[in-house]
Amino acid sequence: MKNRLSKVISPKTGKTVMLAVDHGYFQGPTTGLKELKKAIEPLIPHADCLFITRGMLRNCVDAQTKIPIFLRVSGGPSVLKEDLSDEHITTSMEEALRLNAVGVGMSIFVGGENESRTIANLGELVNEAEPSNMPVLAITAVGKEMARDARYLGLACRMAAEQGAHIVKTYYCENFKDIVKSCPVPIVIAGGKKIDEKDALQMARSAIDDGAVGVDMGRNIFQSDSPVGMIKAVNAVVHENASVDEAYQIYEKEKK
Ligand code: 5RP
Repeated sequence: MKNRLSKVISPKTGKTVMLAVDHGYFQGPTTGLKELKKAIEPLIPHADCLFITRGMLRNCVDAQTKIPIFLRVSGGPSVLKEDLSDEHITTSMEEALRLNAVGVGMSIFVGGENESRTIANLGELVNEAEPSNMPVLAITAVGKEMARDARYLGLACRMAAEQGAHIVKTYYCENFKDIVKSCPVPIVIAGGKKIDEKDALQMARSAIDDGAVGVDMGRNIFQSDSPVGMIKAVNAVVHENASVDEAYQIYEKEKK
């Protein structure tokens, strides 16, 4: 378990830049990931880990790659559904081990129609993962009607940790420190919808300052006008303690 986790969370900095490219599992060919192989190739050297589904791993990632793989193992409803919480575990632990994954991840939908089942799915996934020492990452998915505040996200993160998740992915929000305080496992933040590059770097900076161990970021990297610039800049914030201005300069230089 420790060995797998150390492949993702750098033992040197205690931090991680995970590159999330799993969006197609319910969104289909997401903007920026239409040609996934082409999109991720230049980004891989700058990421600590890829968060991806088994199908895209099989088809779009070179088997000889050195990048550690965190597998998205849940799915079900598409973006066409009103309620996205109707998820199941779709990829087995045997498959994750066969694919040499360093971890598996799934979403929980606290407050969603199928809240209870997604929490049970998480418990079950942890049960299956423990004998193989496979880290489990729980994603606190946010329904359209849920407030992205510390009270709600704190509830969801804590529930994930209580079920035995080894890492939690959530969103950055005001009073993020309170979420970190009440969740005893490492937290990474998702970037969410594409925002201005400087704002995204500020979000990463604030999350790290408030106790996150890193990011599992997607759209704010691969939908940027300079994806390589953005991942380099995020890397500098996460691993080198760069300020927002320093990181923004890295992005701008790469963009030019
Ligand atoms: C999609 C996910 C993504 O991995 C997660 O949201 C991170 O990506 P982004 O930074 O684009 O939000 O879980 O369901």
